[in-house]
Amino acid sequence: MKGLILSGGKGTRLRPLTFTTAKQLIPVANTPVLVRVIQMMKDAGIIDIGIVIGDTGEEVKAAIGDGSRWDARITYIPQDAPLGLAHAVKISQPFIGDDRFVMVLGDNVIQGGIQSLIRQFDEGSYNSQIVLTQVKEPQHYGVAVLRGDGSIERLVEKPRQYLSNLALVGIYMFDSNVFTAVNSIKPSWRNELEITDAIQWLVTHHYAVFPYVHTGWWVDTGKATDMLEANSLVLEELRPSIADTAMIDEHSTVDSRVTLSAGAQIINSVVRGPTIIGENARIVNSYIGPFTSIDSDCVVENAEIERSIVLGHSRIADLPARIQDSLIGRRTNVTRSTTRPIAYKLTLGDYSNVGLL
Ligand code: G1P
Repeated sequence: MKGLILSGGKGTRLRPLTFTTAKQLIPVANTPVLVRVIQMMKDAGIIDIGIVIGDTGEEVKAAIGDGSRWDARITYIPQDAPLGLAHAVKISQPFIGDDRFVMVLGDNVIQGGIQSLIRQFDEGSYNSQIVLTQVKEPQHYGVAVLRGDGSIERLVEKPRQYLSNLALVGIYMFDSNVFTAVNSIKPSWRNELEITDAIQWLVTHHYAVFPYVHTGWWVDTGKATDMLEANSLVLEELRPSIADTAMIDEHSTVDSRVTLSAGAQIINSVVRGPTIIGENARIVNSYIGPFTSIDSDCVVENAEIERSIVLGHSRIADLPARIQDSLIGRRTNVTRSTTRPIAYKLTLGDYSNVGLL
């Protein structure tokens, strides 16, 4: 069985971070979302993984490499234009060949436990398996209408009128019949070849498509608030650990649900879990509240921060108020202005968002 990860898209709703980083490389609990997907595939026993890349392909390649870090083999498949998920499947046929495969959207974060479902598909006889979950706003997704016996009646991409609250989450399993399907459908109103239409084609032509309803959490990360929600959920799941080389001084209090990476230092501070502190990060005279991910080589000094994500090499220091619900990019400085005029002094990237007191 092979794996296919879709990692294109511009990530416009996550600017300015996505000016310098592919959205799939933004970390939750200090691990890029794309890496979580690779790890999930590895846990399901898949080592041959294709990654479909677009405009941000070079960044993805630089961050992920050939996959040897995960004992996986990665093949990059460039998609010239964002012509839809079914188009991505189409151009991946030379990589997939006749194998069964699982396709996962590289910006989706799902609660653990899907690995066994993928394994079952590998050993089973279904032509396709889809993962569904209940959502509040089904008009933004592909949805499935199920019959009383649980079988699929029909699938509709972004229905204008309410049909069902069961959305297709970004995990799909196929055998090679899907290539006939993607070559038979026409582009949708948004000029994309929709994977939902390809699966509907399989259903119409009496292929066996099995719907699995996932009851755990699932986040489709498009904007900062989604990243923060995914971060909180993943931190809740994380098994906490304290690296041997991490240091907590006697004036600090560190909660039992805190992960400290190698070389992290906690000095005269309070750290409440679930929280992760990255490699060689230093927390001094500070409070790190729950649901916070501080990435490697950051410094937090004389500051308080809660339910936030801070990317590597950033410095947060000497703040008069707590930072909360924030997503802070790499090598960023958030400090108090001490020279006159006493004022907010900001150097912000294009499309930044700042919420001042
Ligand atoms: C895509 C699919 C949709 C699915 C969603 C899950 O939507 O077309 O069927 O429910 O991913 O994230 P898109 O992100 O292209 O709007």
